[in-house]
Amino acid sequence: MTAGEEYAGKLFTFEGSEGSGKTTQIELLADELEGMGHAVIVTREPGGTEIGEEIRHLLIHNSASEKMTPEAELLLFAAARAQLVREVMLPALQEGKIILCDRFLDSTTVYQGAARSISSDPVSFINQFAVQGIVPDLTFILDVPAEESIARVRRRITDLPDRMEQENIDFYRKVREGYLLLARSLPQRFHVVDGTEALKNNQEVILKTVLEHI
Ligand code: TMP
Repeated sequence: MTAGEEYAGKLFTFEGSEGSGKTTQIELLADELEGMGHAVIVTREPGGTEIGEEIRHLLIHNSASEKMTPEAELLLFAAARAQLVREVMLPALQEGKIILCDRFLDSTTVYQGAARSISSDPVSFINQFAVQGIVPDLTFILDVPAEESIARVRRRITDLPDRMEQENIDFYRKVREGYLLLARSLPQRFHVVDGTEALKNNQEVILKTVLEHI
């Protein structure tokens, strides 16, 4: 059951590799929806709560995090998610708000499952435990080729690349393939957007698709 079938609110999630443009699209969509009078919450993973942001720091920026095992990484992403779901998402959905979330459980399926090769049983079980039954109403995948993703990240970085940004092209290819595989297996939930298209075109497509769901 999707969030919107169970609660008055809606959950729209945005996925894609680094530099795919999802964060910009979320900001544009939030402005449009708020302008129409909707109550919108923008949040992100890992993060979105005080505890989640501390976990984000540990996962992404901590100086010792190159020693982190894939299993510890999986559990930390799940911990941040469990906190966000219970502290922010469930109350907002009950109040009828629209949540736009920058990454959600599909990031774990793809990054820890497909790219880090943790087997699907623990990934799926831990994801389900963390989200407490919340399934996004719709998930946009901003799809960009791995080479383009890396090039965009390099252009954006002004400081040292973070732990995830240091990954190589094979990792980014697995991430992209993982997302496209998910989209093919659940076409009713996923909407793939060509992240190399003009920002304005994608903005219009995303808004139109969301409006059909609310
Ligand atoms: P971003 O949200 O700024 O793109 O950075 C978050 C990074 O964390 C990104 O490299 C994807 C990664 N990530 C995972 O590996 N698993 C997850 O479950 C989530 C939410 C993010």
